[in-house]
Amino acid sequence: MSDTKPNQKSLTSYYRWHAQIYDLTRWAFLFGRRKLIHRAASQVVMPERILEIGCGTGKNLVELAECFPKAQIIGLDLSQDMLDRARPKLQRYGSRVGLMHQAYEAPIAIGAKFDLIVFSYSLSMINPGYDKVLDICKQDLSDRGTVAIVDFHESRWDWFRRWMGVNHVRMEGQVLEHLRTRFQPLICQVHHGYGDLWRYLLYIGR
Ligand SMILES: C[S@@+](CC[C@H](N)C(=O)[O-])C[C@H]1O[C@@H](n2cnc3c(N)ncnc32)[C@H](O)[C@@H]1O
Repeated sequence: MSDTKPNQKSLTSYYRWHAQIYDLTRWAFLFGRRKLIHRAASQVVMPERILEIGCGTGKNLVELAECFPKAQIIGLDLSQDMLDRARPKLQRYGSRVGLMHQAYEAPIAIGAKFDLIVFSYSLSMINPGYDKVLDICKQDLSDRGTVAIVDFHESRWDWFRRWMGVNHVRMEGQVLEHLRTRFQPLICQVHHGYGDLWRYLLYIGR
C-alpha cells in the first residue's frame, strides 16, 4: 500500500457522512469558489476540455458548464458519496459533463489534454501527495493549459489549524511554494476568512 492510500481511505469515510450535509454547510466557509471560475473565464479563451480534481458535490461543475457552454467537462473524485450528490445537478448538461470515480494518481488525458484544470479546496486535503498531484496535473494540461486553484492557505491560530487537521485539511501555506516552482502566475491572491481566522489562496497559473 502506498503512503497516500491511508489518506484516501480516511477521506472516503469522512465524506460518507459529510456528503449529506456538504451543500448545506460549506457555503459558510469555502469562500472564493465562484470568483475563481469567473476569474478563470477572464483568462482562458474558449477551453475545449476542462477537468476538476476533487469535484465533490458538483457545485463548480455547474458553474463551469454555465461559464463555458462549449467545453467538455470532467469532474473526478475519490468519494462515491460526493459524486452521488453531484450527478442529479449535472443531468441537464447531458454527456458534456462527465464524472470519474477515482483518486487522482496518474494522468488521465487520453489523446487531447485539458485546457483548464480546477482544484477547489481539494489540494489542502491531499496529504501527503499534493506536490505529486501538481506534477500529474502538469502532464494533463495542454501546452497553453491553465490551472485554477482556490484553497485554504494558512492560519496564524494553532487551535484552528489543529481543528482543520481533524477535518483532514492542512493549512500551513504548503501549496503556494509548490505552485511557484511549477507554474507562472496570472493571478495569485491571498484573501482573509472571517477577519483573520484563516487566509485562502486564489491562484491562476500557466
Ligand atoms: C472540500 S471537498 C471540495 C469539493 C468541491 N471541489 C468544492 O469546491 O465544493 C474536497 C474533495 O476532494 C476529494 N479528494 C480528496 N483527495 C482526492 C484525490 N486524491 N483524488 C480525487 N479526489 C480527491 C474529496 O473526496 C472531496 O470530495
